[in-house]
Formats: sequence, structure tokens, C-alpha cells
Amino acid sequence: VSKTAVIVSGLILAAGLSANVAMASEDLAKAKLCTGCHQVGAKMVGPAYKDVAQKYAGVKTAEADLAKKIRGGSKGVWGGAEMPPNPAVSEAEAATLAKWVLSLK
Ligand code: HEC
Repeated sequence: VSKTAVIVSGLILAAGLSANVAMASEDLAKAKLCTGCHQVGAKMVGPAYKDVAQKYAGVKTAEADLAKKIRGGSKGVWGGAEMPPNPAVSEAEAATLAKWVLSLK
């Protein structure tokens, strides 16, 4: 196998994977029951993910901050109910979910 072929197939794989991220993350949000309190486009118990993405657009630390809150819970930011901690979410999953939420604006 030529070096070029390896590089090209690597690129194709990478493109395919990133196209799948949106779906996979949405499934993860369902599996972790985030969808019980959040929708992408409308406020429920918690804020719409679109509103979250807009609020933190341009904030460099947003991904790490939100990942921490996804696991540890949050209150007082959106003025209404409080988000309980989500201990079933691993650090890696929280990072994936935070990145996905921030991509939704
Ligand atoms: C029991 C309901 C509930 C569940 C389950 C829940 N959330 Fe929340 N979430 C909330 C509420 C309420 C807020 C607003 C808290 C606040 O005002 O600080 C919130 C806020 C957030 C925020 C914004 C935090 C901020 O600082 O602006 C993110 C991101 C978020 N949730 C993601 C998730 C993800 C991902 C999951 C699944 C692992 C999840 N939530 C599960 C109720 C929930």
C-alpha cells in the first residue's frame, strides 16, 4: 500500500467520522436522559441548546466550563430550575456533549 493511499483513506475516514458526530451526540444526549429536560430549539425544564450555544458563542473556555456543569450540575445561570448533577456521564462524554451543544447555534 502506498503512503498516499494510506493518507487518502485516513482523510476519507476522518471526514466520515465528523459527519457522524452530530447524530452520535444527539443519541448520547438521549441515552443520558438530557432530552428529558432539554430540547435543541425550545426551552423545557432547562434552556434550549440553541440558546446555550448563542450565550457562549465566542467564549473560549465554554466547552470546558459546560462539560464541568453537565457532570456537576448548574443553577442560577438561566434563572429558573436547577440542573442536578449527572454522575452517569463520563468526562469524555461530557466533553462530547458540550462540544455538540455549542455547535447548535
Ligand atoms: C432534571 C432536568 C435536567 C437534566 C436531566 C439535564 N439538564 Fe441541563 N439544565 C437543566 C436546567 C434547569 C438548566 C439551567 C441551570 C441554570 O440556570 O444554571 C440546565 C443547564 C444546562 C446547560 C447550560 C449550563 C450553563 O452554565 O449555561 C447545559 C450545557 C446543559 N444543561 C446540558 C445538559 C446535558 C448535556 C444533559 C445530559 C447529560 C443535561 N443538561 C441534563 C436541567 C436539566
